[in-house]
Amino acid sequence: MTVLALETSCDETSVALLTDGTVRANVVASQIRLHAEYGGVVPELAAREHLRNLIPVARAAFQQAGATPADVDLVAATRGPGLPTALWIGLKAAQALAFALGRPLYGVHHHEAHLYSPWLSGQPPRTDFQAFQPHVSLIVSGGHTLLVHVTAELQHRLLGSTLDDAAGECFDKTGKLLGLPYPAGPWIDRLAEGGNPTAYTLPRPLQEHPGDDFSFSGLKTAVRYLVRDHPELLRDEVARRDLCASVQASIVEVLVTKTVRAALRLGVGLVTASGGVVCNRALRSQLQQACQAAGLQLRLADPAFCTDNAAMVAVLAERLHRHGHPPTDLDANIEPDWSLDRSHA
Ligand code: KG4
Ligand code: ZN
Repeated sequence: MTVLALETSCDETSVALLTDGTVRANVVASQIRLHAEYGGVVPELAAREHLRNLIPVARAAFQQAGATPADVDLVAATRGPGLPTALWIGLKAAQALAFALGRPLYGVHHHEAHLYSPWLSGQPPRTDFQAFQPHVSLIVSGGHTLLVHVTAELQHRLLGSTLDDAAGECFDKTGKLLGLPYPAGPWIDRLAEGGNPTAYTLPRPLQEHPGDDFSFSGLKTAVRYLVRDHPELLRDEVARRDLCASVQASIVEVLVTKTVRAALRLGVGLVTASGGVVCNRALRSQLQQACQAAGLQLRLADPAFCTDNAAMVAVLAERLHRHGHPPTDLDANIEPDWSLDRSHA
């Protein structure tokens, strides 16, 4: 079975082709440079870029896979959550294609698709569900910070999310306070390498709170006050590296502590993680250490599949189809605020 998937929920235009669980193409056109001068994603610009990029990206995906539209058995697209005008472009294009090809369409949940990206590994990337087991999944990006309990395939429950800023947003906003370009996450990652993570005592919001929700705005405010009261820090290269290392240590410690604690409380043996922030090297290595110490297995999404991509959308659509879920109506609308929970007993 060959699945054609489109992902346009935010600022990445992506098209993937998947045949029998193996990714044959996953082409991603990132708009990050376009939005950089505005310091964040501008929805109207994102939608225009998707319009511009979708067909060239789709052509490239078909070429890479050595396939044609006639080979497609199933069409998939992200239906939500995401930026409404951006979602419309991918979903409507997918519906038109499904209509023209006479194939079923699956309009899928973006975060549910993220749950599948840690399962795409190796070369060529393929999904291996023989290793599937109940797990806790951390999804962290510029727009979301989610902790999810996956009890079985396609059955999951949202444990917690952020009460204010997302983890990636916290990297980006504190980075801006430190004079770094958008998106600041990768810059903080690099600068933190030479810095001292204990140089500044920064809050670990909600870390000791028994619930599974997150909060990062207090950390951002602490950095704002620190640089307001000590502007000289920004002119000192060592201090800037130490600040980056301290901010990163705080975000990473909160994410790792709460994820491992949820996994142990729920009695699962596996943790998975995906989303742009999972590209962070400190987060990857500290999750590894903490899971090992707690006797938990860990599956981290490959950095190529951490950020938004259509391969994860294709895999989810294929699994929904295999598990007998009905396709989406060809006139169904987007779901910009779709909640994640799904439990089909
Ligand atoms: O998944 P993604 O591309 O989706 C969104 O558009 O939200 O994630 C982007 C986020 C940004 O906030 C970016 O700063 C962060 O992921 N990020 C990182 C790293 N690479 C990307 N944060 C920390 N360290 C990194 N290496
Ligand atoms: Zn995402």
